[in-house]
Amino acid sequence: MKQSLQRLLGTCVTAGVLGMAVAGQVAIAAEHQKAGPTPAIGNPSVSTPAQTEKYVKPTSGDASSMAARIEEGRKIAFDRSKGNCLACHALPGGDMPGNIGPALPYEGISMKQRFPKREALHAQVYNAMQNNPNTVMPPFGLHRILTEDELEKVVDYIWSL
Ligand code: HEC
Repeated sequence: MKQSLQRLLGTCVTAGVLGMAVAGQVAIAAEHQKAGPTPAIGNPSVSTPAQTEKYVKPTSGDASSMAARIEEGRKIAFDRSKGNCLACHALPGGDMPGNIGPALPYEGISMKQRFPKREALHAQVYNAMQNNPNTVMPPFGLHRILTEDELEKVVDYIWSL
């Protein structure tokens, strides 16, 4: 009798401890869910790089260094594993372009005429979703598809067209 009482007591204590452990885990899991990452899109409390990063004008060099930047930008834009702009845009001298986006430049309007402010062109390439949330154009800067340096060179190239 005494023994079985002790065993019963033991079981109760074990169950109690187990129960506490399980409850603790559930609480931890719930806490974890609460602390989980909140999606940045549509969440005003999460600041996106687009809002925090200021556009920095590349250090102006002489004409020959600008020509070099433009040529580097063209290579990045044409590179299928980098900008891959040709997947969607016709660009002068580009092989087998896609036509999901408009030709750049479009119908003889220079890119400087189309984007008098370089910043506006930069914004389009950095995060096209800012201008059109439904665009299929990848946000090259925001998603770090291109580095800042690569993006600036691509913008220099596009702006020269
Ligand atoms: C998956 C397809 C796709 C890729 C890749 C793409 N774009 Fe676009 N782009 C578009 C579409 C579609 C538009 C039309 C505007 C829109 O969707 O809001 C556009 C618009 C633009 C515009 C604005 C044109 C205008 O006159 O308003 C520029 C500039 C541009 N893209 C540059 C680039 C550059 C530079 C690259 C490569 C780094 C690139 N795009 C890669 C699809 C693409």
